[in-house]
Amino acid sequence: MQNPLATASFCRYNVPSFIKSDVEQALSGRAGGALEDIVSLTPIGEPRRKITTATLREKKLRREPVSCITAYDYATARLVDEAGIDVVLVGDSLAMTMLGYENTLSVTVDEMLHHVRAVRRGVKDALLIADMPYGSYHATAEEAIRNAARFVKEAGAEAVKMEGGEKRVDIIRRVIDAEIPVAGHIGLTPQSVNVMGGYKVQGKTLHAIEQLMRDAVALDRAGVACIYLEGIPREVAAMITAEIETPTIGIGAGPDCDGQVLVFHDLLNLTFTHPAKFVRTYGDAAALISQAVLSFKADVVSHQFPSDSESYHLPEDTQAALTTVLERKRAMRR
Ligand code: KIV
Repeated sequence: MQNPLATASFCRYNVPSFIKSDVEQALSGRAGGALEDIVSLTPIGEPRRKITTATLREKKLRREPVSCITAYDYATARLVDEAGIDVVLVGDSLAMTMLGYENTLSVTVDEMLHHVRAVRRGVKDALLIADMPYGSYHATAEEAIRNAARFVKEAGAEAVKMEGGEKRVDIIRRVIDAEIPVAGHIGLTPQSVNVMGGYKVQGKTLHAIEQLMRDAVALDRAGVACIYLEGIPREVAAMITAEIETPTIGIGAGPDCDGQVLVFHDLLNLTFTHPAKFVRTYGDAAALISQAVLSFKADVVSHQFPSDSESYHLPEDTQAALTTVLERKRAMRR
């Protein structure tokens, strides 16, 4: 049988202090390694460790910003994860960015699950959060738990996100009690677009600030994993972030949040709309894609694609046999 201690040179172990001396003894007798070398359960060479809900809290304590990007499919999820982003959010914004709906209200649990499953296959290290769509957690706690559990069991989400503060907190608490981490979302909550009368910056009056603070504190006390703060003045986001222990992740909420999120399609100019004030566009994927597609079309029309080197060829002996057959046929026709 392989001696597990002998694997210390390729795999490092986290050793609780109460068994340290036993291990040290064993090592000095058998494997001969120094215990100082053994520091983590992560195999040597692993580039980064798995981000969990606990990591977000550690980051807040260490004042290390949390990075989050939305992703909706395998390829983009994989690129986002491999870039070392902490949190991948399968936002219900996919209703607009991926499915072309006017707002987020019509997307269903089944449509969301389809995208979360694809993203799950592309994400290794980042924390994977799935948005609960409108109507899937608004009626009863039982229904919310049943739907949230589908995201965990059927699609591999590690947390679910729900919009709303005080008025949603009883349901959120019940979902957390069912062992499902929840991300809160307050401020400009897109699922309330009809109630808000449009996508408007929230928290601009004293009354609204007070309500936002109550919402944040209620979610904090309920034990949510993080709170998305969307579309609120930076001063309000800063106050909330300083007041609560839960990490805040801002979008259009200024630089004082514990982390920042952008929608993938905003980041890369793929929305076909004028970007909101808070969006910084980091690349022009629309131009890249259009240029590539135009070039392909031009090459097809001008017979430039595919070239001979992009084509498969017959093996030499098959080609020779085929030539013989064709020549015989031609001769018979003469
Ligand atoms: O749906 C989404 O993408 C979101 C983020 C913008 C926070 O909720």
